[in-house]
Amino acid sequence: MKNILVTGGAGFIGANFVHYWMEHYPNDKVVVLDALTYAGNIANLDSVKDKDNFTFSHGDIGDQALVESLLNDHNIDTLVHFAAESHVDRSITGPDAFIETNIIGTYSLLKAAKKIWIDNPKRTGEEVKNHRFHHVSTDEVYGTLSATDPAFTENTAYAPNSPYSASKAASDHLVRAYHHTYGLQVTTSNCSNNYGPYHFPEKLIPLVITNILHDKALPIYGDGQQIRDWLYVEDHAYGIDLVLNKGRVGENYNIGGNNEWANIDIVKAISLLVEKEFQKDLSLARRFPKALNAIAQTTKSLITYVQDRPGHDRRYAIDATKTKNELGYFPKESFQTGIAKSVQWYLNNEAWWQSVMDGSYQDWIKEQYSQFHN
Ligand code: NAD
Ligand code: DAU
Repeated sequence: MKNILVTGGAGFIGANFVHYWMEHYPNDKVVVLDALTYAGNIANLDSVKDKDNFTFSHGDIGDQALVESLLNDHNIDTLVHFAAESHVDRSITGPDAFIETNIIGTYSLLKAAKKIWIDNPKRTGEEVKNHRFHHVSTDEVYGTLSATDPAFTENTAYAPNSPYSASKAASDHLVRAYHHTYGLQVTTSNCSNNYGPYHFPEKLIPLVITNILHDKALPIYGDGQQIRDWLYVEDHAYGIDLVLNKGRVGENYNIGGNNEWANIDIVKAISLLVEKEFQKDLSLARRFPKALNAIAQTTKSLITYVQDRPGHDRRYAIDATKTKNELGYFPKESFQTGIAKSVQWYLNNEAWWQSVMDGSYQDWIKEQYSQFHN
């Protein structure tokens, strides 16, 4: 049995991880620490919030005293660190928050973990000796690939290209250093692009779905031939589960979907899927009257090529051979089933995406479009 502290558990992947964990390990205790930034939403945890073995703490990972008290008060033995600023576009227009949370915030968490688990444990015994600090990182730290380069392995040299990926790379290095220097029991996973429920609609896949429903342009950066390796979010949670239970301390593990798509192709595929849903379910036309699909038109005309993202990485691809061979990892969800479930989720959860798109998000998107989009 574990007592887990999940940072960023009200965000997209963190919330999916909490759902996964509480379903698969119903006797474990889960504590979420989340600052509820624009990307965090307490409603993402509605289905678990009343369980006796769940606690939510509203706070910042940079608050070392708070983290120390959570580690002590809840006898935490496992920390899974998702909390971050995660959107590349935002890191281009406003890198400060990325440095603050991703680098300084991670450093603060490491200090708290070292203090409670190594320097000054109030508890004695196995739960402290067998602590784990799992750091959730990204494939973006490896930089960019050409169409013919082999996929990233755990030995690929770090070459981050955006303020976001540079801040994640810095945090990965700090985590590594706390293991080598102080003996903190760390693991790190580097994952490819996730998609699925609760994905904030500033990211490509949910943006395309929700814009189709609102009859808004589908912005394609540059020539749309950039490639991403898409993974259903629950398979990311499964990968982290394997790393926590079977992974070797001090190691990095790549997690990927083996599922490379050019952006323009994925946008076209989603448009077709939504169109088919409107054909199958006639109530959608009533619920989303602005959508072109509501009047039996295709949404091809919404595709709009816009100015490219500065420093845009051309291709990411993950080689997850080590994770497969050592831990038995393979993605369980096919892209076909995963994307169909995701489209359904957005069609069924309009209230969720309407609410997260209000307020500060709308202000930011307007500013963003005036800065580097046509
Ligand atoms: P997200 O932006 O949806 O969620 C981030 C969460 O962290 C939010 O709930 C937010 O409120 C919280 N948070 C932000 N700053 C905080 C702070 N200072 N203190 C406490 N909480 C804070 O992000 P996501 O897409 O769920 O990504 C989660 C993690 O996974 C990140 O570390 C990201 O780098 C990594 N990752 C994401 C992807 C992806 O495709 N989204 C892929 C690989 C790795
Ligand atoms: O690879 C893992 C990373 O995936 C994570 O570390 C990041 O946290 C996560 O945000 C994601 O980064 P990307 O930049 O790849 O995701 P995003 O959804 O922002 O963009 C996917 C691709 O689509 C990228 O090539 C940029 C392009 N794009 C994006 C948007 C929002 C567009 O062409 N138009 C758009 O409007």
